[in-house]
Amino acid sequence: MPVNVNEKEKVFLLNTPKTTYAIGVVDDGFLAHIYYGKRLNTSDIRYLLKEEDPPYIPEKNKREENAFLDQLPMEYPETGMGDYRESAFCVRNMEGFRASELKYDRYEILKGKPGLEGLPATWGSDEECTTLNIFCVDTLLDLEVCLRYTVFEQLDAVTRSVIVKNNGHQSVYLEKVFSACLDMEDRDFEMIGLFGSWARERHLQRRPLGYGRQNISSFKGESSHQEHPFAALVTSDTTQEAGEVYAMNFVYSGNFMAQAEKSQFDSVRLTMGIHPEGFTWKLDPGKYFTAPEVVMVYSSEGLGKMTRTFHDLYRDHLIRSPYLHRERPILINNWEATYFDFDEKKLIDIAREASQLGIEMLVMDDGWFGHRSSDDSSLGDWQVNEEKLKGGLHHLVEEVKKTGMKFGIWFEPEMISPDSDLFKKHPDWAIQIPGRHITQSRAQYVLDLSRQEVVDAVYKMMENVLKSADISYVKWDMNRQLTTMGSVCLPPDRQGELFHRYMLGVYQMQERLVREFPDLLLENCSGGGARFDPGMLYYSPQIWCSDDTDAIERLKIQEGTALVYPLSCMGAHVSVCPNHTVGRNTPFETRGNVAMAGTFGYELDITKLSEEEKEMVRHQTASYHRYHKLIAEGDYYRLCSFSETGEEDCWMTVSKDKCWALVSYVCVLAKPNAKSRFLRLKGLEPDRKYEVRGKIYTGNILMNAGIKIESRQGDFRSEQIEINEPDGEPVCDG
Ligand code: GLA
Repeated sequence: MPVNVNEKEKVFLLNTPKTTYAIGVVDDGFLAHIYYGKRLNTSDIRYLLKEEDPPYIPEKNKREENAFLDQLPMEYPETGMGDYRESAFCVRNMEGFRASELKYDRYEILKGKPGLEGLPATWGSDEECTTLNIFCVDTLLDLEVCLRYTVFEQLDAVTRSVIVKNNGHQSVYLEKVFSACLDMEDRDFEMIGLFGSWARERHLQRRPLGYGRQNISSFKGESSHQEHPFAALVTSDTTQEAGEVYAMNFVYSGNFMAQAEKSQFDSVRLTMGIHPEGFTWKLDPGKYFTAPEVVMVYSSEGLGKMTRTFHDLYRDHLIRSPYLHRERPILINNWEATYFDFDEKKLIDIAREASQLGIEMLVMDDGWFGHRSSDDSSLGDWQVNEEKLKGGLHHLVEEVKKTGMKFGIWFEPEMISPDSDLFKKHPDWAIQIPGRHITQSRAQYVLDLSRQEVVDAVYKMMENVLKSADISYVKWDMNRQLTTMGSVCLPPDRQGELFHRYMLGVYQMQERLVREFPDLLLENCSGGGARFDPGMLYYSPQIWCSDDTDAIERLKIQEGTALVYPLSCMGAHVSVCPNHTVGRNTPFETRGNVAMAGTFGYELDITKLSEEEKEMVRHQTASYHRYHKLIAEGDYYRLCSFSETGEEDCWMTVSKDKCWALVSYVCVLAKPNAKSRFLRLKGLEPDRKYEVRGKIYTGNILMNAGIKIESRQGDFRSEQIEINEPDGEPVCDG
């Protein structure tokens, strides 16, 4: 049973194939967390609550309520009554008092998984999922809080959300509504997070967990370049193959906080939700507030197992695009080729050359609209600049199609330039605090997407462009963080809702786009990878990973990204050398091998490549067609890591039927006088025979002794090694 309720013991168990998550009701009605870990075969686990230990439950010892609350492993802790660890929930009533006492009321079990209104979330059928709703109430405020858990029966993942309903006669202010809390005893945990900066996104960091609070967060209005809505607690012996991992990932693209706190009693609390800074939601009588979803994954088989669980969950239960299992077109984007300096002739020349080499789609990036010839103007004026693109968009698209290529286009719909017709007409549409100057970033302001008329007007402009020509792809960009948070339309006591309302506006626009243009391939982007999160994956099957296209920098970015997200969603392109971001020269072959770990494409002026390089493009596009399904749908294994060793990087994907695999190896720093290097493979069938470079091996020897790496002479050299069954063409069933 995925959800098992022991009525007598007042214990709820959520069972996935290999994990159990357990919650209990203590006698005075508080919800306590009992257990999360390897699957249990009994529900007789109430003793784990240690109810006989002092300071006992409050009913038995009224004198020590405070101490009790500060020690009990709480399922959904709240502010104000005596638990001084980070709370998950904080409410203020109209009189200004901040406290609640949520007590267990009832539960229900549903087949399947209900959606979350206006928000992205994982999904699944009645056969695949079971949902448990536990309702708690605060009788004084007449507030009902539903803790929602969904169990994916074939995957070791549990999702959580929280829905608050005001049943009272007075409004209340929600000041914090986290989506998940997990209390555990410390096991010398270490914390893993993904950190970075522009062009350096999602580098993996692992650090010991000390006493006090360690948090990962963003209140920039986006999930951000710098920190990432993912956190994992691991035991110090955890490796790719062994050890325990407790991971949380937030299905949301705005402000977030993930925090681990080690208490005086050596308990650890992991929490995740919307960042409370800048958040207050006025909840009127009869209304609901829905907190975004957190995905929890537990693995007792190391980080690799956690990664593969996230990949399977996101491929099968988050990404909705019809392109998910389709081979994505190999695209060429003109950004690094031309920046703003292009016209229709240049684009057609690129398309003509690219089509000869196996590339399938031209993406026209920034600079085609308004009077934009630099990043100083025109965001919001989504009309084609016909001085630049003579003959208009329809003509250009038809000319590109004549070369055999599809056509894609760039938008940055959430923005407004001070120098734009839109801003002249509607200066109040920018996010702003009246009387205060609006801070610019990249010479632009942000549109107030909490206003329905703004959402409608911008959507309409995009819709007109998309209907005016045969457009197959949209790159949806977002190039600045949010500041001077104010909406001229929201009343004073709702200004604290702006960050979240902004995100709801973005989600609404993307939902409309994918519904109205179901065949459109949408790629999200945010100054590179500032919004590479599960919220965005619900709308777009691929996201631009980083503005850094240097193959060596990409090793760390892609390792961190692939820790959680499937390779099929990582936008990765081959660009020219010296690289525009770091000035590094790397072999063309290596740039291709690294970009092939994602949705493959090019970002260069293909008309300027040498004949030798063009031949390599032909080879790479053919390889991509051969391996695309294996890379996109196979199981991912990390063999070694440049971020750990500083020397080499290696990953592999194995088809689900274990018949076929591809190993990608990069020698970053060649070593003089080095011995042969053998790399042990992973994920194969030990007793099966595999062919590698024309010779036959068993899976057993490939995994225990390994294969020889040949590219060890020369910095930045790389190779792809195919492993397949000795007879017949490999087939990847996904
Ligand atoms: C962002 C994107 C780039 C490019 C530029 C255009 O930086 O990440 O890929 O589209 O904007 O202005």
